[in-house]
Amino acid sequence: MLQMMRVSECICSTVPTLLATFCSPCPENRIAALGNMLPKQTQRPGRCRREPVLQMHDSPFAVYDIEALRRMRRAKWALETEKYGAAVAEMDFSPAPPIISALVDAARRGDMGYPHPQALESASVSLKDWLKERHEWTVSVSDLVTVGGLIHALEAFLLHFVSSTSVVVPTPAYPPFLSVPRGLGLEVLESPMLCDDGQWRLDLDDIDKAFSSGARVLILCNPHNPTGTVFTREELVAVSEIVDRHRGRVFSDEIHAPLVYAPGAGRPSGRTHVPYASVSSAATEHTVTGVSATKAWNIGGMSCAHMIISEQDRLTANRLAAVLAHSASTLGLWATAAAYREGGPWLRDVVSYLNGNRHRLADLVDKHLPGVKYRVPDASYLAWLDFRATEWSDEPARHARSSAGVSTNEGTDYGAPGQGFLRLNFATPAAVLEEIVGALGHTLPFR
Ligand SMILES: Cc1ncc(COP(=O)(O)O)c(C=O)c1O
Repeated sequence: MLQMMRVSECICSTVPTLLATFCSPCPENRIAALGNMLPKQTQRPGRCRREPVLQMHDSPFAVYDIEALRRMRRAKWALETEKYGAAVAEMDFSPAPPIISALVDAARRGDMGYPHPQALESASVSLKDWLKERHEWTVSVSDLVTVGGLIHALEAFLLHFVSSTSVVVPTPAYPPFLSVPRGLGLEVLESPMLCDDGQWRLDLDDIDKAFSSGARVLILCNPHNPTGTVFTREELVAVSEIVDRHRGRVFSDEIHAPLVYAPGAGRPSGRTHVPYASVSSAATEHTVTGVSATKAWNIGGMSCAHMIISEQDRLTANRLAAVLAHSASTLGLWATAAAYREGGPWLRDVVSYLNGNRHRLADLVDKHLPGVKYRVPDASYLAWLDFRATEWSDEPARHARSSAGVSTNEGTDYGAPGQGFLRLNFATPAAVLEEIVGALGHTLPFR
């Protein structure tokens, strides 16, 4: 499992950094320490350095320059030979103020021991309220199982909630969806998704065939990493009918749901996130949904996620609840509670900034990367770039790294349909994104 985690994208190291930063007993020192997370040129000497804090809160999404990002201790920028970090799925933005406050409060109280009922309850109630308000999805706190992360959740689901030895995974897929079942000795049936003019969708006939051949579990990712697709209600209903017909089960990973770009003026194609388990009573019953605040609020190192279970899983969930909750962190629970309860305004702002970047990237690709195809994603900050018509079609991420010094993810790590693609993270200040795409453009040979 350790090996699998290493190759996965989720390398987490934020908790110790935050603690070291915020644990000073003197509020003024804490504020000054917060300033240390900013680029050096924005800091002033002296005891009370308030200015960086104001700057951070006033303009949280374009503060860091590339040198500051390289100095920060973040997995995304922990590079070897590369110059630019655009791989690991985290954002180059300062954290949401309510989350910082919740962490500082917990640290000052010394509330850094094992997860306890108050923290567990607070995170679960905030999530329940969030799901109701955001997705009109009613779940009860007793339907929520706390766990240290969605990979743990998937592993627990495959080990304890289902007995199938064969799992269907639509590809391209987030790599742990392939490596976790294989690591548990299960057979993985890759179901290549279909792509029309850059728009990816599930191959329903192929999924049906996989279930007919004996598979009993589907691992769904909605919104979809890496393609950024938000599946339509019709697609999800069709999936639920297939799974129901075969008496199958679904693990629906919805970690990217808070990052969906809503339809808006001039953007009629925007899609709304529909929780898979909410599309029918059959789907409710056969699904375990995985959710977490880590992706949308950029707290990947906080080790906290939830499984939303159905009635048929209640006994298993009750039996395992304590052990699963033990893998979560107390600070992560408080950060999660703050995110769902008070993080709405920050989330709205970050999605708006990312919305600018997803369109900016289209212009940059047009300008600098001839032959590369990019469909603006419906959700999240991961661009699935098609290099198949370029000189880099064999292994685009390897070329991006060796020629341009840009760290991205190789498409083939996501399964066979990823051949000729790379995944690029655009959750970075616009100026950094321009520099990254410019570096790729300088070295990508013309055909
Ligand atoms: C689809 C998906 N699931 C799960 C994770 C990781 O989840 P967690 O933060 O709970 O470890 C990621 C991280 O990028 C992801 O993209």
